[in-house]
Amino acid sequence: MAKASDPIVINGHRLKNRLTFAPTVKFGWAKEDGILSDRHLEHYKERAEHGLGLLCVEATAVTPDGRFCPDHIGLWNDAQVERHKYIADVCRENDVVSLIQLNHTGITTNPQMGEPKGPSAVPTRSGELSRAMSVSEIHAMQEAFISAAVRAKKAGYDGVQLHGCHSYLINQFVAKKTNLREDEYGGSDENRARFASEIIRGIRELAGPDFLISVRTVGWDPDLQSCIAVAEEYLRAGCDYLQVSHGIEMPDPAAVLREGDPFTAICALGVRFHEYFGPRVPVSTVNSLLTPEQVHYLLDNDLVDTVDLARAVLADPRFPEAVLYGSDYVKCFDCKRCQYGPFTKNQCPAALKRAKEA
Ligand SMILES: Cc1cc2nc3c(=O)[nH]c(=O)nc-3n(C[C@H](O)[C@H](O)[C@H](O)COP(=O)(O)O)c2cc1C
Repeated sequence: MAKASDPIVINGHRLKNRLTFAPTVKFGWAKEDGILSDRHLEHYKERAEHGLGLLCVEATAVTPDGRFCPDHIGLWNDAQVERHKYIADVCRENDVVSLIQLNHTGITTNPQMGEPKGPSAVPTRSGELSRAMSVSEIHAMQEAFISAAVRAKKAGYDGVQLHGCHSYLINQFVAKKTNLREDEYGGSDENRARFASEIIRGIRELAGPDFLISVRTVGWDPDLQSCIAVAEEYLRAGCDYLQVSHGIEMPDPAAVLREGDPFTAICALGVRFHEYFGPRVPVSTVNSLLTPEQVHYLLDNDLVDTVDLARAVLADPRFPEAVLYGSDYVKCFDCKRCQYGPFTKNQCPAALKRAKEA
């Protein structure tokens, strides 16, 4: 039985406890050069100082056209590396394992940023068709992920997390709905996993055996079994850690939840992955874990190895200490305003409450 405060070692990196900060993009905080702003540095420092075992920096674009919007961060050139050293150092000083999430938007690419392209020609959000990438474009994109990972290592991060869920490029290769290819990148589970598996192999080769490679992977797209088969491919390629979340389709609660499960269907996916993989690979789960009791339930009952927290830690950086020591914190209001994207700023009611109390 693991407790929240128990350490866990992942590919030689010791997390001092089971609490991890999930990636959360900060819309409007960067400039068009994709370099971290002072606000980013303060934000991550404040989070690293309050008890987390691992911190994952938000979705970071591997090419300029893979950004969510013009003021989104990237790691597509060397000039972007320098400021990341600050976050990696702050994590090390606070005994927090550090990852950075690498991403490309693919067929969901904002037309302001570039041409929507992905595994196949399928309808985009605007109703037009995306362009199917050629095999040489796929290889160039894989190189962009690998080069970004090498930059992440230069910055001092302990590892990277490939963004393999939430409908972005890696997810688009895995999902049958967006991958209609008939070559080696489409069809079977092995083929749909190949885009990311080859990236994992490339990172391992250049960043070395000690670099932590996590995949934030899809738990249900189009079902659990197929996602487990895809994750098996990631493990074969050298992935060290599976951080499970949702894909393009949301999981069907009736199919995933068991009677009495006190968590959401998305959260249940990580639990099912942990049941399947057991001690072979650490598995994390996420989604609507907003109180210490929920976190303890998952860990005390050995339902997952680590618990990934997003809004609870956005709302109050002290949330990990509340889980570990029972100290005070401001609970996330679950208003979801922070998810509305680039249009909302500074409206987190928990942060406002904290500021008033300070
Ligand atoms: C403001 C915000 C930004 C997010 N950005 C990312 C991101 O960059 N990458 C990612 O994989 N998920 C992102 N997510 C999803 C979270 O990591 C997490 O999976 C989701 O919020 C559910 O967890 P929670 O209930 O603990 O918030 C974001 C969520 C929020 C609220």
